[in-house]
Amino acid sequence: PELFAPERVNSKGFDLSHTPDLERIEAARAPFETHEWQASSLIANAAQAGQTVAVSNPYDPNQTVGSATLASPQQIEAALNGASAWSEGPAECRAILHKAADLYEEHYGELFALLAREAGKTLLDCVGELREAVDFLRYYAERTTNETPIGTFTCISPWNFPLAIFTGQISAALAAGNAVLAKPAEQTPLIAHFAVSLLHEAGVPRAALQLILGAGDVGAALTSDPRIGGVAFTGSTETAKLIRTNMAKHLSPDAPLLAETGGLNAMIVDSTALPEQAVTAIVESAFQSAGQRCSALRCLYVQEDVADTMQEMLIGAMKELCLSAPWDLRTDVGPLIEAEAQIQISDYVATARAQGRVLYELDQPEKGHFVPPALIDVNGIADLEREVFGPILHIARFKASELDQVINDINDTGYGLTFGLQTRIDDRVQHVSERIKAGNIYVNRNQIGAIVGSQPFGGAGLSGTGPKAGGPLYLSRFRKVDALQSDG
Ligand code: NAD
Ligand code: ALA
Repeated sequence: PELFAPERVNSKGFDLSHTPDLERIEAARAPFETHEWQASSLIANAAQAGQTVAVSNPYDPNQTVGSATLASPQQIEAALNGASAWSEGPAECRAILHKAADLYEEHYGELFALLAREAGKTLLDCVGELREAVDFLRYYAERTTNETPIGTFTCISPWNFPLAIFTGQISAALAAGNAVLAKPAEQTPLIAHFAVSLLHEAGVPRAALQLILGAGDVGAALTSDPRIGGVAFTGSTETAKLIRTNMAKHLSPDAPLLAETGGLNAMIVDSTALPEQAVTAIVESAFQSAGQRCSALRCLYVQEDVADTMQEMLIGAMKELCLSAPWDLRTDVGPLIEAEAQIQISDYVATARAQGRVLYELDQPEKGHFVPPALIDVNGIADLEREVFGPILHIARFKASELDQVINDINDTGYGLTFGLQTRIDDRVQHVSERIKAGNIYVNRNQIGAIVGSQPFGGAGLSGTGPKAGGPLYLSRFRKVDALQSDG
């Protein structure tokens, strides 16, 4: 694969501290504040559709954002039969994907309104999502080649990056020449429908990219049919295991599974760390996007000597967090995606509270699927039984002599997605980063986010199969590997 990027620049995005940018966003978003969208599967061959469901706003659950008509078994069959890779050559595919990126940039008003109203994304997150989606389109567009595609790829995405990850998987599979069956998360069908409509408008043939709306059962049908040549999946580790099993039973043994899954991410703050920098990084890593990021910080280790001060500063910073409407610029933390997540995570906090382990938590807002950010005391990461996908931060203390034990405990979880380190000792950066098993290691900054082309993203172990998204090796898994290479 080509390791060095051809000429290409990342999207400029918007500057939220620049009033004209803010005014532009507001003017473009406002017409869609009460708009109701309709989404349906986009399938090359006609077939009777399934049931229609309403989509509500996580900040204001009484508000309907639109409705989605789910795929019927007949539509799934029609999509599998109708899938056909595009016959256009690499230059044409490249031009079409760039055209799609242009259309995404043009339609930021609708996309921001959808991201805020369907997925509860704050303005800061909306801007990040659109930038990443556009960057994926342009980055993979530049890597279209004449190499042999695999055939039909199923791309299954989560709701927490309903535009960026959804688009990243699709554009990678398309750039490698495959036909795509895109199955977005059931929570975010409207964004997916809008995005695929833009891709079609740009010129991606309808048989090369089909949208199939539905929940896990639809995902299961699309990963257990021998007509599927490969699967790109982003979501929970548990779902990835189910998909792996389905693929092993029904697909060719050569069919690749690219899985990007969950994390139990830690940060170590030693006694030399700059306290203000560390607190900013911790708050952003744990609470931005309401903690609904695979990369989010879940377990903070603070060296004992500075732990009291750090904890006090952290709680001070948490008190300043604003929980409100996603599109209000003052909002730091938006709602969770749905009632079920809110109930599950609130129960988790209630259990910790009953055990006397909640060190601090914010107040519950009056409406919306909010879980207020909370700080929970633990002995170490081994106390975390699972990924709690919300604004919940666990904190543990360690002695200087226990550093290697802490590293072992973090590695022992079996996950390996992100890791953060705050220190002013260069040798320690080297010591820790050589030993921690994590896909993305962030030093003296927050541990969320990635930049297409310059900071590819992906984990190891229970967190993913690699190669990293937005990196030079990613497309290689969407192409046929010849027998000699696969034997190696
Ligand atoms: P999920 O696993 O519940 O769902 C993800 C997708 O899989 C959805 O489209 C869903 O409909 C589908 N699905 C569910 N059951 C299926 C089955 N049996 N067969 C096929 N498809 C099925 O995850 P989620 O709640 O949507 O997303 C949150 C999870 O995603 C978290 O664990 C998070 O860490 C992870 N995530 C990882 C990354 C990464 O880059 N590593 C990025 C974002 C999210
Ligand atoms: N790259 C995404 C993040 O950092 C998944 O949160």
